[in-house]
Amino acid sequence: MAVRPRFYLDHAATSWPKPPGSLTACIDYQTSNGAAAGRGVYQSAEAASELVRTTRQAIARLIGAPNAIDIALCCNGTQALNAGILGLLQSKNLRGCHVVTTATEHNSVLRPLQLATHSCGITWTAVPCDASGWVDPNQVRDTMTANTRLVVVNHVSNVTGAVQDIHAIADIARERDALLLVDAAQSLGYLPIDVVKDSIDMLAAPGHKGAGGMLGTGILYVRNDLQKQMESIWIGGTGTQSDSIDGPFDWLAAVESGNSNLPAIASLKAGLEWLRDHRPPDSMRIWSETILKAIQQTPNLKLIGPGNDDPARSRLPVFSLICEKLSCHEAAMLLDSACGVEARSGFHCAGLIHDYLGTKDRGGTLRLSLGHTSTLADVEAAVAGIEILGSM
Ligand SMILES: Cc1ncc(COP(=O)(O)O)c(C=O)c1O
Repeated sequence: MAVRPRFYLDHAATSWPKPPGSLTACIDYQTSNGAAAGRGVYQSAEAASELVRTTRQAIARLIGAPNAIDIALCCNGTQALNAGILGLLQSKNLRGCHVVTTATEHNSVLRPLQLATHSCGITWTAVPCDASGWVDPNQVRDTMTANTRLVVVNHVSNVTGAVQDIHAIADIARERDALLLVDAAQSLGYLPIDVVKDSIDMLAAPGHKGAGGMLGTGILYVRNDLQKQMESIWIGGTGTQSDSIDGPFDWLAAVESGNSNLPAIASLKAGLEWLRDHRPPDSMRIWSETILKAIQQTPNLKLIGPGNDDPARSRLPVFSLICEKLSCHEAAMLLDSACGVEARSGFHCAGLIHDYLGTKDRGGTLRLSLGHTSTLADVEAAVAGIEILGSM
């Protein structure tokens, strides 16, 4: 049977294909090593621990973290966000505080915050965004109260691609003595981030999107002097203090409880090495403009997100749209069946943003997203698919 061509435009969910070297590193690890890290003293177990150590170092370099041990390796972005948000809010210093977040957040921020209202007595407020998914930093300031101790911000909307002004938000958080947690799910590997220069206290992200690792990877950075106050939200085998069942356990060991996904971590390290030598090429910017223009110029389609009319508002190539005559699920099925274009439809796990984008009653949006390994053929297929959607 002939293989049907597929054009993957769902990099905002997870990148595919992975950068060169990432898959090979994953298979090589499992073929030639396969041991668990942080447990045994035999040579391959030591090599596994070394892999963890050097992967932490590569992440620390990418985000400007002062120490590799400020980085916890998690299994996805959701796990990293839960460990960061709930770990911090359960500490005695922050119980009962007020948290400011934004309407653009993913449910992996909103749901832990909602959980913390019951388990930690906190209150939280989501700052609205505009119709393109952009948050005004002044509204963050205006929403803060004397009891606000934490600000959680999604760096780049996974629905509209809008990039938030995290520098301005960091300044505001610092002015008011609040901590800043950045969800870098869509930006890690695509935008420069420096946790020290940008005054970011905590940063969480999947490792399987722009960082180029396999599914099953995530990272959490916590500023060194905050780690002591983080509570464990899960605990189990840590490979240390194994004769004690009540600790105290250090923050990193608790977050990384249980055996790590070493084959995926090997792929993440290879992805990060590839990234070090590859900044987003010019073609990415050109392709992004091509898709943007195609959506904007096609009748019956409406772009949901920043257009190219305001250069001050930057975006990444995550494009949401709605079709006048099709639901977003019908549009996604049509793209797939007519042109092999794989795009996501629905609310994209973002529980609040659709109230502000006007897309709630439409069942969300159709989303096309590019990544490091997108090709001209992907872009051409997307443009052809957009034309078909407009003709319906
Ligand atoms: C903005 C944002 N935050 C968090 C996540 C959660 O990451 P993961 O799917 O790795 O749990 C995603 C995933 O799409 C995301 O887009």
